[in-house]
Amino acid sequence: MNSSGQVLAKRYNKFRQLNKFLEIVEDCLPALEQPLKQGRPIRIVDFGSGKAYLTFALYHYLVEHLKLPVELVGLDLKEDVVFFGNKVASQLGYDHLKFYHEDIKDFQSQTEIDMVVSLHACDIATDYAPAQAVKWQAQLVLAVPCCQHELFNQLVQPSQKALLEHGVVKERLAALITDAARAKLLETVGYSVTIMEFIDLEHTPKNLLIRAFRDPQAPSEVAKEEYAQFKKFWSIEPSLEFLLAEEA
Ligand SMILES: C[S@@+](CC[C@H](N)C(=O)[O-])C[C@H]1O[C@@H](n2cnc3c(N)ncnc32)[C@H](O)[C@@H]1O
Repeated sequence: MNSSGQVLAKRYNKFRQLNKFLEIVEDCLPALEQPLKQGRPIRIVDFGSGKAYLTFALYHYLVEHLKLPVELVGLDLKEDVVFFGNKVASQLGYDHLKFYHEDIKDFQSQTEIDMVVSLHACDIATDYAPAQAVKWQAQLVLAVPCCQHELFNQLVQPSQKALLEHGVVKERLAALITDAARAKLLETVGYSVTIMEFIDLEHTPKNLLIRAFRDPQAPSEVAKEEYAQFKKFWSIEPSLEFLLAEEA
C-alpha cells in the first residue's frame, strides 16, 4: 500500500491472493479449536515466508481482527527479509510474530505446531513443510506449491508419449503429478486432503492449494495402495515420500 493505505496497482494480484488465502483460513478455523480448548495459543509456522506479506496478513487477521491468541513464526533462507520482518513486527507491536533465518528442513520446534502454511515455497521446499507438519501432527496444512521441477526428469512412461513429448505439456503434467502425489502421500499418514484452486488463474498461474486436515479416521491403508499404484505407473520417487519415511 502507499502511505494513504491504497493498494498499489502493481501489487493488486498479490493482495487478492492474500485475501483469498485468508478466506480459506477462515473456513478452516474449526480445525484449530483444540489449542484454545487446552488454554494455549494457536501455533503457526509459515515456511518460506519471504517478504512476509502472507505472514503479516495472517497475524493481523487472526490476532488483531479475530482476537485469537496466536504465536506465528515465519522462516526464510534470506537474512534480509527475516531482519525486515522482525523490524516491522516490532514496530507494529506484533509481539507474537517472529521471523527466523533458517532452512525449513532444519527447523525444530520445542512446542506443538497446529498449522503449517507455505505460499509458493520453491520446488521441494514445499515438501519439507508438510513433512514437518506430519512430524508435529499439525491439525492443518495449507500449502501452495510452485516450481515443481523434481519429477520432470523422472517421468518415463512409454504408453503416455503424447503427454511427455512436448516440454511444455510435460512440465505442467510433472507439476500436477507432483501435487497429486503430495496429496495422496498426506492421506497415507492420516490427513484428509483436498487440492483446490485458491484463486482464479488470471491472478497467478501457481494457483493450486493443498489443504490437509489431520484426520485419524482417514482411510490411510486405501491411500497407501492407491499411492503405490500411482507411483508404479509413473515410476516416480517424490521427496515427500522419503521425508515422511524418515519421520515414521
Ligand atoms: C517465491 S518466495 C514466496 C514468499 C512468500 N511466501 C510469498 O508468497 O510472498 C519463496 C521463498 O521461500 C524461501 N525458501 C525457499 N526454500 C527455502 C527453504 N528450504 N527454507 C526456508 N526458506 C526457503 C525463499 O528464500 C523465498 O523467500
